[in-house]
Amino acid sequence: MPLVSGDELLPRARRDGYAVGAFSIHTPEMVDAVFLAAEALRAPVILQVGRRAVRHSGLGACCLWVRARAAASPVPACLHLDHAQSFEAIAQGIQAGCTSVMYDGSELPFADNIRETAAIARLCRAVGVPLEAEVGRVAGVEDDLSVQEAEARLAGPADCVRFVAETGCDALAPAIGNIHGLSAAVPVLRFDLLRAVAAAVSLPLVLHGGSGLDTGQLRAATAAGIAKINIDTELRRRFVEGLGEGLADCGAQDDPAPVLAAAALAVRRQVEARIRDFGSAGKA
Ligand code: G3H
Ligand code: ZN
Repeated sequence: MPLVSGDELLPRARRDGYAVGAFSIHTPEMVDAVFLAAEALRAPVILQVGRRAVRHSGLGACCLWVRARAAASPVPACLHLDHAQSFEAIAQGIQAGCTSVMYDGSELPFADNIRETAAIARLCRAVGVPLEAEVGRVAGVEDDLSVQEAEARLAGPADCVRFVAETGCDALAPAIGNIHGLSAAVPVLRFDLLRAVAAAVSLPLVLHGGSGLDTGQLRAATAAGIAKINIDTELRRRFVEGLGEGLADCGAQDDPAPVLAAAALAVRRQVEARIRDFGSAGKA
């Protein structure tokens, strides 16, 4: 089916207490693996394109892979531009066919983040593409950006209420102790903070840094109002591990197909496990 808007997936997920998986894609094999997992579990799904994938393959190619595969799929799929840091990058994402975009102004002072996000929200509203934005600052490594723990800032409920009222964004990613990337210790999520934000903000809430979180944390997050969970690093890691296994197993030295198939299968299994964790199986 054609791509669906984020607005067709996330408000329902928030209302019904599950999260839609937002899986970062970096190659056509990863796109296919995410769709195969979503189709097997009849789950709505978000495929997201971040700065690393744009740098490696180009925004146009990444969007084309997703749009073409979605057209052949029975599950509702949304194409999301992740962590865009400028008005221009958002406009390019919309032009390339993204049906949801994220503006990340979290490195700006709070008032500047509000001003920039509000301007982008006006553009998004004019063209009917929902906008996700971040309050506070998530620690860890996201594509080319590294945020030390000392620079991270948590999102308080009062700031979240003001941010939503003054920007008009459609989904909110509050920093609640989550960390981008796979850290040695499992991050400690501040569920007290999440519950306070969820009580004050009725928009779908987004959890970044899903890699490495355990099933219990993910279920508690969806129960507390998280409607979209972003997963990137662990899928890249599975892909590379799968390539290694495929190389070790493959007899022929001149055929990349079985090597890539092993990598795609490793990604598919991880996406299936996460869809189960998020409670979105059977919601398509
Ligand atoms: O926006 C993408 C993510 O927040 C992914 O985080 O690499 O920790 O899974 P992750
Ligand atoms: Zn993120």
